[in-house]
Amino acid sequence: MAGSTLEIKDLHVSIEGGEILKGVNLTIKGGEFHAVMGPNGTGKSTLASAIMGHPKYEVTKGSILLDGEDVLEMEVDERAKAGLFLAMQYPSEISGVTNSDFLRSSINAQREEGDEISLMKFIKEMDKSMDELEMDKNMAQRYLNEGFSGGEKKRNEILQLMMLKPAIGILDEIDSGLDIDALKVVAKGINSLRNETFGCLMITHYQRLLDYITPDYVHVMMKGRVVKSGGPELAQRLEAEGYDWIKKELGIEDATVENA
Ligand SMILES: Nc1ncnc2c1ncn2[C@@H]1O[C@H](COP(=O)(O)OP(=O)(O)OP(=O)(O)O)[C@@H](O)[C@H]1O
Ligand SMILES: [Mg+2]
Repeated sequence: MAGSTLEIKDLHVSIEGGEILKGVNLTIKGGEFHAVMGPNGTGKSTLASAIMGHPKYEVTKGSILLDGEDVLEMEVDERAKAGLFLAMQYPSEISGVTNSDFLRSSINAQREEGDEISLMKFIKEMDKSMDELEMDKNMAQRYLNEGFSGGEKKRNEILQLMMLKPAIGILDEIDSGLDIDALKVVAKGINSLRNETFGCLMITHYQRLLDYITPDYVHVMMKGRVVKSGGPELAQRLEAEGYDWIKKELGIEDATVENA
């Protein structure tokens, strides 16, 4: 099996009338790891939210296809069921829902009725993944993200990723707020998912993450578009030289999205 293909073509996205994404083109195939980098405010998180179908983000032009199926026609839950997953830059706290109940419901929502995961199997898998992520077991019974430290929230996003096993995982700054040991643990978890079918898009500011999770492709976003793509060496050059050389090359003064 070759895995899924996520195809983003000429994607334009507006928020409250202001255009943020201005023609993003990006294709992620099963088995590939892509890194998306770029200065603050250039549309990276907007891209992630638009792929998942956040209601605030209006797609005004272009397409998103998953194995040829029109993702833009799908509701958020249908997108998850189709195999898309987003680990958020700022995961929300949900009081009253335990982490473990949330995870089990998420897994079951992706399965057919009558084929729900057994409680035993679920607990076994959760224990195993929590061990891999060196998470305290009592995190399972706490309310989702409530009072979690920044690093605990990020680990918990990867716990969801590991248990949901999506076709395409989108990780928005999964490295932010992680201490050095936690970064290694989280990277180990993500790397454990590497196979011929899993496709991954990692949004990050730092080479540090890419030292642990080597991307096949690196893309740079500026002004709401992917303006440059390359291999891992592109990220290394950015780490050493910053973004000025790309701006110069492309005649860009301000990389952020102007909200006209
Ligand atoms: N919900 C929203 N309402 C209003 N403006 C928004 C919203 N979401 C994003 N924007 C604006 O869109 C632009 C791009 O934001 P986005 O979060 O996509 O940037 P980013 O590339 O992820 O930046 P960072 O590296 O700082 O996370 C910013 O100017 C931001 O203020
Ligand atoms: Mg962002």
